[in-house]
Amino acid sequence: MDQQIEMVEMKPYNEYIAMTELIYLTDSYQKELTTTVVSIEKHGNLWEVVLTATIFYPEGGGQPSDRGTITGKNGKAHVKHVRMKGDLVIHECTLEGKLSPDDEVRGTIDWQVRYTNMRLHSAGHIVHEAVRLVAPNLTPTKGYHHDDAYIEYIGSLPIDTQYRIEKESNALVEQNVPLTTELVSMEELQKRTPWAPEHLPKHKPLRILTIGTLLPIPDGGTQVRTTGETGEIHITKIENADDHVRVYYTIEQAAQGAPAADTSPAQTLTAAQLTGMLLDVQNDTISHAITPLESKNALAELTKKIRLVPPQDRQAVGIVVTEVKQSIESALSASSSDLDARRSTNDSWFDVTMPGIRPPEGHLHIVTQAITEISKIFATIGFTRVRHPEVDWDYYAFEALNMPASHPARDEWETFFIEYPGKPARATPGVARGKMVLTPHTSNGQVREMEKGKLPIRMINIAKCYRRQIDVSHTPMFHQFEGLYVDTDVSIAHLKGVLDYFAQQFFGPERKTRLRPFHFQFTEPSFEVDISCGICNGTGKLANGDPCRLCKAGWLELGGAGMVHPNVLRYGGVNPDTHSGFAFGWGVERTYMMKSGTQLDDIRLLYSNDVRFLEQF
Ligand code: PHE
Repeated sequence: MDQQIEMVEMKPYNEYIAMTELIYLTDSYQKELTTTVVSIEKHGNLWEVVLTATIFYPEGGGQPSDRGTITGKNGKAHVKHVRMKGDLVIHECTLEGKLSPDDEVRGTIDWQVRYTNMRLHSAGHIVHEAVRLVAPNLTPTKGYHHDDAYIEYIGSLPIDTQYRIEKESNALVEQNVPLTTELVSMEELQKRTPWAPEHLPKHKPLRILTIGTLLPIPDGGTQVRTTGETGEIHITKIENADDHVRVYYTIEQAAQGAPAADTSPAQTLTAAQLTGMLLDVQNDTISHAITPLESKNALAELTKKIRLVPPQDRQAVGIVVTEVKQSIESALSASSSDLDARRSTNDSWFDVTMPGIRPPEGHLHIVTQAITEISKIFATIGFTRVRHPEVDWDYYAFEALNMPASHPARDEWETFFIEYPGKPARATPGVARGKMVLTPHTSNGQVREMEKGKLPIRMINIAKCYRRQIDVSHTPMFHQFEGLYVDTDVSIAHLKGVLDYFAQQFFGPERKTRLRPFHFQFTEPSFEVDISCGICNGTGKLANGDPCRLCKAGWLELGGAGMVHPNVLRYGGVNPDTHSGFAFGWGVERTYMMKSGTQLDDIRLLYSNDVRFLEQF
């Protein structure tokens, strides 16, 4: 039986102290405190003790009050209930011996009760966050964190949200995120929280609670440090009534202070065992024995196991979990380049010696390839590649090639004439350069090359040509390569030799050329050059006796050639009495197609920029 001693002198509480310092507001893990007695009064059967500071939580905010003892040099009070009265905390006690004002006393809370209350309270906040996820617009009215714990909201919730709320709650528990509290002003509280109750005390430090990175909410209770400490949460019932709904929840039985009777040894772990397992994961991760993904999964599993540890040890283990997570994170970010490689292969086996994946590689356009090859072949026999304008005067394209303005031969070249804004200059005194054309052939380079005044000439002029023709075998823009050889004593035999050389280099050693008489204004004599067919070997017949379908009687047409007309030499300033020359001009596209044996249904494909076609060459 408590021995109760009456106090002699009594004063109203408020004359002693303005308010009790609330230690539990800033440290919910403090179990003992040395402080002084402010007053002690008997009310009915119980003594009401006021202290300068207290670690005892007064009932409120849905959390039950603490119990414990207040011990002085002459007596010991057993705290049965604690409540708030104004700014003071009243400890309702039974008393052994005597406590007097100004006595130094040691307050000790019943940690088992406190920790259970704390876990239940924190679990309530976790459930609230889960409800917010499922139904963001519900307004909370109160929380009750005793037996039959619940959170109440204005409005209603479909019953089938029960499972989701439970799942979201336990997701937060498994993440083991921190619960942090801050003392704030009323103004700050209203600014930072999405919801605040109407009855908040006006002139006191207020507190907000933040779970992980979620929005803070006002709270004055005691809270665990990390969500994992609450253990698994069950949503037992969703109760809709009139205008409000209650979400009932429990945490496991063992947490209620009395360990569950049926807890088998396999379902319990000591704090030391779990700590050991956590440190193993940490070491394995840092030494790369396990991948980051395996590490993450292992940590999640171990976090769940916190509830298998005796309740009084969970706080300590929770801190270890947080520390292990932090050290793993910093270790992983330090070696992130290595790990990026692992991650990119889905955290699975990764062989650094494996051949890489080649990015698609482009190549030169088929016509560019042909131009390069043609230039090389002629370079070996002393023909230099030159460039002459692709937009040129009528004079170089026709007039100087022995085709005066009215000459009907011009009609063969379906020429584009273009407007020239300036005044045409004169080629040679007295000779008009005429209109400007998009060169219909590369022969404009002949006189231009001669005008350079250097003999002998061995040029190969490869350029774009333009003709007003577009169909399956013509594009309005195409390429020609023009050969010109001017020297003393140049004969048809030289022309034939050069053509054979090119044909054998370009098409193959067994190929031959033949010259067929033809007519051009700028050559005399003129020829069409044919090359022996590569399929039927110039016979016009296949092995089985069928006629060759590629060629005409064993020969394919390449293009024009001839001995340079004396008039053209004169236009170029070369004396036809001392010098002679030959010229040839063929289409690049056509010649290249003949080589590859490619029979294009439509030559326009070359310039349609379709990669599916171009990448085949
Ligand atoms: N320029 C002529 C053409 O385009 C080809 C050619 C060039 C013929 C040189 C003879 C000499 O068809």
